[in-house]
Amino acid sequence: MKQRYIDLIKQTFDFPIEGFDVKNGHLHFYGVDLMEEIGEEETPVRLFYLPKISIQIDRARDCFNGAIERQGYKGSYTYCYCTKSSQFSFVIKEVLKHQAQLETSSAYDMDLIEKTFRKGWLDKKTEIVCNGFKPEEYIQRISAMHDRGFENIYTVLDDYEEIDRYRFAREEALKIGIRVATEEEPNFEFYTSRLGVRYKDVLKLYREKIKDNPRFQLKMLHFFINTGIQDSTYYWNELNRMINKYTELKKIAPELSILNIGGGMPIRNSLYTDFDMPYMVEEIVRIIKKSCDEAGVDTPDIYSEFGKYTVGESGALIFEVIKEKKQNDKERWYMLNSSFMTTMPDIWGIGEKFIMLPLNKWENEYQRVNLGGISCDQHDYYNSEMHISEVWLPKLDKKEPLLIGFFHTGAYQEALSGYGGMKHCLIPTPKYMIFDRDSKGKLKTRVFSERQSSEQMLRLLGY
Ligand SMILES: Cc1ncc(COP(=O)(O)O)c(C=O)c1O
Repeated sequence: MKQRYIDLIKQTFDFPIEGFDVKNGHLHFYGVDLMEEIGEEETPVRLFYLPKISIQIDRARDCFNGAIERQGYKGSYTYCYCTKSSQFSFVIKEVLKHQAQLETSSAYDMDLIEKTFRKGWLDKKTEIVCNGFKPEEYIQRISAMHDRGFENIYTVLDDYEEIDRYRFAREEALKIGIRVATEEEPNFEFYTSRLGVRYKDVLKLYREKIKDNPRFQLKMLHFFINTGIQDSTYYWNELNRMINKYTELKKIAPELSILNIGGGMPIRNSLYTDFDMPYMVEEIVRIIKKSCDEAGVDTPDIYSEFGKYTVGESGALIFEVIKEKKQNDKERWYMLNSSFMTTMPDIWGIGEKFIMLPLNKWENEYQRVNLGGISCDQHDYYNSEMHISEVWLPKLDKKEPLLIGFFHTGAYQEALSGYGGMKHCLIPTPKYMIFDRDSKGKLKTRVFSERQSSEQMLRLLGY
């Protein structure tokens, strides 16, 4: 009996699943026959399915608002989008269309906000949570936007001294958040995150620098648990610690009213498992309420800043298998017309897995393969899926090339792989200098290129 690829998938997974189905041997992604839409001559191609963004935003709002209502929680939920996960103009436009607020991470990100404002996609009431470590340029831009009347900028202090560096003329107080440094996972190299203010310094920071200072108003306590939101002892412990800090602070800072739980909502990276988001959200809301009730303080408004969750599942990367190679009796390679290192750096950098499926040939027999990129690098390969340490794909035939897709790759990948010269968190390419010596050994220096400007970067992103 012929063992078809489609049988393998249907026997292994509960297939079809949301977003993926197969009709006439072709994969459909959110109802789109990708083989029909993407000619083989177009690959490699990265695609974005924009309607998925609003589905994600609505789903998160439903989960949080549902939990808030069921539990009689007194406080609201605000969805912020963490811009660094994809800063393309078409993504930012889409999230703003769905009334998401924004979270920024660098100076050039503030220029992105400015451009977006000029386009009329946001206004001065839009909430902008300014996160991250703040070099001078970032501080200056935040202060300038506050001066220009942006009403809902929350600058989230990342260290004890940051607050001393803001200079603005406006009388209204600048809204402040404090990021609390979380403890890292036990198996990580460091004990405590380098980001945020030390846990034990938070109350002192408030008392010494914010409480009696009319220039600032403390509104938000923020944390980001680096593993992301997950049903683990580590996550729940950290969450509890952060909420305890909130209740301690709230007792001395009555104006504090927001708990920002950061990003880290997982997305599907395998057909096998799905994350139980409603359960996790219900628990988060329950734990916040319980801790606040026990401490006798009002429950906060909850903010999140989901990046990967917002855009990850809308993206896909399509490659063509251009050659099959057999290097010994066991190792069979499908060579792709691109490189993992240049298109999906998370695969080789941090061993990330994504959903990988063929676009065609679902009726063919299947075989175990390794996927190879065409760069010269030894590490340019993919040979293990989330659910098994193997990769299986349809056998090739002479009819048409096999196209394969890596799905849910819409977050971070193009920033990390440097789309057109773009950079993660919009941190610019440095100035390039050349040092040489003349025939007498005298040093000659020249500038090859200046530091990348914000205009250059934002042009790449479509602004
Ligand atoms: C402060 C902060 N908020 C939000 C996020 C977004 O995380 P994710 O894309 O996992 O939702 C990050 C990611 O690094 C972050 O550092």
